Amino acid sequence: MNIRLINQEDVQDFIGCYLEIWRSLKGILPDRYVDDQIKRASSKEFHLKMINEVSDPVNLLMLATERAEAVGVAWGSHREDGSTWLTFLGVKPAHRRKGVGRALLARFIEESRSRGSNKVSLDTDPRLIPAVRLYESTGFVVEGTAENPYGLQLVVYSLDTTI
Ligand SMILES: CC(C)(COP(=O)(O)OP(=O)(O)OC[C@H]1O[C@@H](n2cnc3c(N)ncnc32)[C@H](O)[C@@H]1OP(=O)(O)O)[C@@H](O)C(=O)NCCC(=O)NCCS
Repeated sequence: MNIRLINQEDVQDFIGCYLEIWRSLKGILPDRYVDDQIKRASSKEFHLKMINEVSDPVNLLMLATERAEAVGVAWGSHREDGSTWLTFLGVKPAHRRKGVGRALLARFIEESRSRGSNKVSLDTDPRLIPAVRLYESTGFVVEGTAENPYGLQLVVYSLDTTI
């Protein structure tokens, strides 16, 4: 497995992987929410947005590959308060439970720290049990709750990266 920061040429692979991960969440998260994410990520506007994201140094976009196949993604950005927000982390279903998710998260944290970040935060739906287990076993602690625009009750986690 290889993990690397992506460039513009990787955007198509990144989105393909991201879409497959979202499709795997059907039946776990509400249909309307998942369908909207898939529709959004399939659009030309999203492709352009991701090209812009890659070009902006505040963002951290990573791809995990296995024999040249994109198998996992991590996507986040550095914030003005010195923390880094992890927007999305995921691994394609066929490649799960082989350490890819943990390796991606570790690399994301390491990269955030090396850019001067004091904290990595994220929010997630508690129904995403593998993700919750991964975050908690990495040392993330609950910082609060938040409601997303679809009415999903999310748990906000953070990890102090200065320790
Ligand atoms: C969460 C996710 C990224 C984990 O990726 P992965 O490559 O399968 O994870 P790893 O093999 O590195 O496992 C890391 C840890 O995650 C937890 N975990 C992973 N799969 C699990 C499962 N099916 N049940 C319970 N815990 C699980 C375990 O704590 C595991 O550590 P362990 O192997 O020492 O027990 C993956 O399940 C995924 O893509 N899920 C869908 C997308 C998602 O929920 N993203 C988070 C929202 S932002």
